[in-house]
Amino acid sequence: GTFRVAVAGFRESRIDRAVARFLQRLGQQTGIPFSNEAVSDPAQATLTIQCKAAGEPVQSMRADESYSLEVTRRSAQLSAPSPIGILRGLETVLQLVDLDDESFGLPVVRIDDHPRFVWRGLMIDVCRHWIPIEALKRNLDGMAAVKMNVFHWHLSEDQGFRIESKTFPKLQEMGSDGKYFTQDQVKEVLAYARDRGIRVVPEFDMPGHTTAWFVGYPELATAPGPYQIERDWGIFDPAMDPSKEKVYQFLDAFIGEMAKLFPDEYFHIGGDENNGKQWNASAGVQAFKKEHNIPDNHALQAYFNKRLLEILTKHGKKMIGWDEILHPDLPKSIIIQSWRGQASLAQAARQGFAGILSNGYYLDYMWTAARHYEADPLSKATANLNNEEKSRVLGGEACMWAEFVTPEDIDTRIWPRTAAIAERLWSPADVKDVKDMYRRLEAVSKDLDTIGLTHLSNRTRMLRRLAGDHPAGPVRILSDILEPVKEYNRPATQHYTSFTPLNRLVDATRPESKAARQFSLLVDQALAGGSGAKSNFQPLRDQLTRWRDNGARLDPIIADSFLLREAKSLSETVTAITGTGLQALDYLEAGKSAPEEWKKEQTSLLDRAKKPQAELLIMIVPALQKLVNAAAAAR
Ligand code: ACM
Repeated sequence: GTFRVAVAGFRESRIDRAVARFLQRLGQQTGIPFSNEAVSDPAQATLTIQCKAAGEPVQSMRADESYSLEVTRRSAQLSAPSPIGILRGLETVLQLVDLDDESFGLPVVRIDDHPRFVWRGLMIDVCRHWIPIEALKRNLDGMAAVKMNVFHWHLSEDQGFRIESKTFPKLQEMGSDGKYFTQDQVKEVLAYARDRGIRVVPEFDMPGHTTAWFVGYPELATAPGPYQIERDWGIFDPAMDPSKEKVYQFLDAFIGEMAKLFPDEYFHIGGDENNGKQWNASAGVQAFKKEHNIPDNHALQAYFNKRLLEILTKHGKKMIGWDEILHPDLPKSIIIQSWRGQASLAQAARQGFAGILSNGYYLDYMWTAARHYEADPLSKATANLNNEEKSRVLGGEACMWAEFVTPEDIDTRIWPRTAAIAERLWSPADVKDVKDMYRRLEAVSKDLDTIGLTHLSNRTRMLRRLAGDHPAGPVRILSDILEPVKEYNRPATQHYTSFTPLNRLVDATRPESKAARQFSLLVDQALAGGSGAKSNFQPLRDQLTRWRDNGARLDPIIADSFLLREAKSLSETVTAITGTGLQALDYLEAGKSAPEEWKKEQTSLLDRAKKPQAELLIMIVPALQKLVNAAAAAR
């Protein structure tokens, strides 16, 4: 309780607020009440903060985020050239706080830290499903905790126009179902992000992904309309008409308004997935192409982008857009955000364009943290760039597309996996020990829960909903060995729209099964010891027995819950395959070789168990197959 912080050196209100938040967080972590105020005399302080100079009025990617932390037996000193470095260092201090058999404490350390990449972002799509301000704020807290520095705010889509325009109010009035951010709320988010050292880059996706704009302003579209807010997921035909001067007049006024609201130097114009169908069908657009010698739709989109660039430049902004905007006609001042892979990033860098990587960081793909962790902006095609070209690769962004998330479960999809991406983008390239990443990810996940992220708590709530009046424990045990189907396989099984409830077992199931990963390690360990009495199979037996017996506990819960009915055969499959695992253990413990016929039958059972059920995958199947193979080989 006597822990005190002093602020020496350059002082600004952002640092004072950061210190108050730090002390409050330290209190949450330890349960010890601290005074939230800094002391003026460093001699009285446990932690002294020394900031060398003021930060930029508007944070840019040139911000110096470095810091040094020195913890001695008596005190700690955090120094940084800028307030942003202080923010990063305070997060490190909070990560270092731990409890031992005597007290809470910090290790005696000296840390000199700085990021590998200047652009470490998280994109949140607030359009496919509406994601309100509270959800954004807590995710900004999460970003700050893992030292991310760009919030990319995907604000317009076919399914919703999510920001108030005072110039063109029909955008939000007719394009959002009343679910949009007022400009006051936007300012609140901007201030919140700035306080945490996070830039905010707004995205207005153009010329495709624009149906919601056209509900109120059909004259912007290539085809006449009328238009309605899109309720389905996918790629749609509506696109702005690049041949109409009034489209550019509209965009000049609209972007002018938004450029004043958002202080960041970059403005994201989207540019992805314009299928060209409306352009091909329009006599006006075809005539325009002929008249201007524009050979194809990609060149036409480059023309549109050049016009957009003039507007952005007029309003003091630089352009960033998705892969598709890459075209030699555009100046080298634009940034390419690659969702398609390192190859397009490398191509861009060779042509002189800066870029960031998002391929490999799509959170909606339901990949493991390890798979995201492996994706590196400077790997594959970009690994072969020369140093100058490599310097154009600025970093990366995790992307949370929102077709299959709601405010309730969005944190379960973002966290903790995004922490692994954040580390990839901050730490040296050779920090890549996956086992150690998982150890630290576990700690970070708990910290994120303490600061208010809902990835743990809301999952518990969703499991309780599924269980109705029954205890949720058995549902959790089942869910813990499952993962949602990967990439974009969910819509393959049923037709989803923005009205489809996301309250099923698949929604309450984590993108990555820790239980299955641990089981797989346990199987590898046990099999490394060989069969017979030499090896200890008991922990595997205990685990498989718990999973098998869970089936009988789930039966009455599933019978009473319409939401869980689809999980009945899934649960039966788990009971069957855990039985297989137990039989394999019988052979292995006895040191007897299982008959080939048995192996064939069990393998066919396991193959069937690999198929998705209720949009879920049973993740213990590969480890069980290893046990079956080992049992058949044992003697
Ligand atoms: C994208 O995934 N279409 C940017």
